[in-house]
Amino acid sequence: MKLPNQFYRPLAIGAPAPLRELPVKVERMIHFVPPHLEKLRAKVPELARQVDVVLGNLEDAIPADAKEAARKGFIEMAKSTDFGSTGLWTRINSLNSPWILDDLIEIVAAVGNKLDVVMLPKVEGPWDIHYLDQLLAQLEARNGVTKPILIHAILETAEGVKNVDAIAAASPRMHGISLGPADLAASRAMKTTRVGGGHPDYRVLADSDPGQGLRAAYQQDLWHYTIAKMVDACASAGIKAFYGPFGDFSDSPACESQFRNAFLLGCAGAWSLHPTQIAIAKRVFSPDPAEVAFARRVLEAMPDGTGAVMIDGRMQDDATWKQCKVVVDLARQVAA
Ligand code: GLV
Ligand code: MG
Repeated sequence: MKLPNQFYRPLAIGAPAPLRELPVKVERMIHFVPPHLEKLRAKVPELARQVDVVLGNLEDAIPADAKEAARKGFIEMAKSTDFGSTGLWTRINSLNSPWILDDLIEIVAAVGNKLDVVMLPKVEGPWDIHYLDQLLAQLEARNGVTKPILIHAILETAEGVKNVDAIAAASPRMHGISLGPADLAASRAMKTTRVGGGHPDYRVLADSDPGQGLRAAYQQDLWHYTIAKMVDACASAGIKAFYGPFGDFSDSPACESQFRNAFLLGCAGAWSLHPTQIAIAKRVFSPDPAEVAFARRVLEAMPDGTGAVMIDGRMQDDATWKQCKVVVDLARQVAA
């Protein structure tokens, strides 16, 4: 199964695609729920009306002695909640853990027909996706699951980054890839102690100015290279790229800035780990109305997507038309 492609595929001549061909799923935030905690599980029905995706997390952040309770809690919440058009995902334990087999066997048997996507952590190469693909095929057949369960990989090891192109193209079940900055930092031996975001010491100094004592320092984006590499792999395979977690819940501006960098570089969404991050993701991953209005003017000025026009002193041509199409398509999806 091939996902409807959310990315604009340039046509030789840029006639707009008919509206009905636009993809329908907007996934601006993948909201993480720890399903072993009854108090948080109780909030899921309300949450499902606020977010694009609810994910029951079974992996990291769930203590080893709560793994079974989390799995059972996930099944319970999946059964008892009407998710409507909201996506239902789970992050299973990693392939080399003692829990993954039971995670899949029990969950697909109990709620396989409600489950949209399985998020697989610590993916190192296409072989991990092939294994999960076959396992899901067996379990779907055994349990009479009627729609294919998709796979979302987390990019969080140096080996995985090396193989990201092959991971993105490993199976028609591939839904997308998320950056996992915390595990990736550890895998690369980066000298950080945080979950995503920047670091005040990762910066460049402005050239020294003999007349001034202080030199300006500019913080750099630790994740620029990886996000760009992941976005290229996903776009060329026709799947979606996501920024993952931002762990400092007390710093909403920094979270927003990290999400925005990912959005501008081509990501479709990010994880929300805390209720405050839902609104941030919604704001960031929905296109700015002023930008949409400008993009519409460009599309209207070049109805067949070719040629060159000047709008507000800026040159527009076939290539900017395609960029504007991405923005306008996203606005339509968000409004749908
Ligand atoms: C997410 O799983 C991460 O490691 O950042
Ligand atoms: Mg991780």
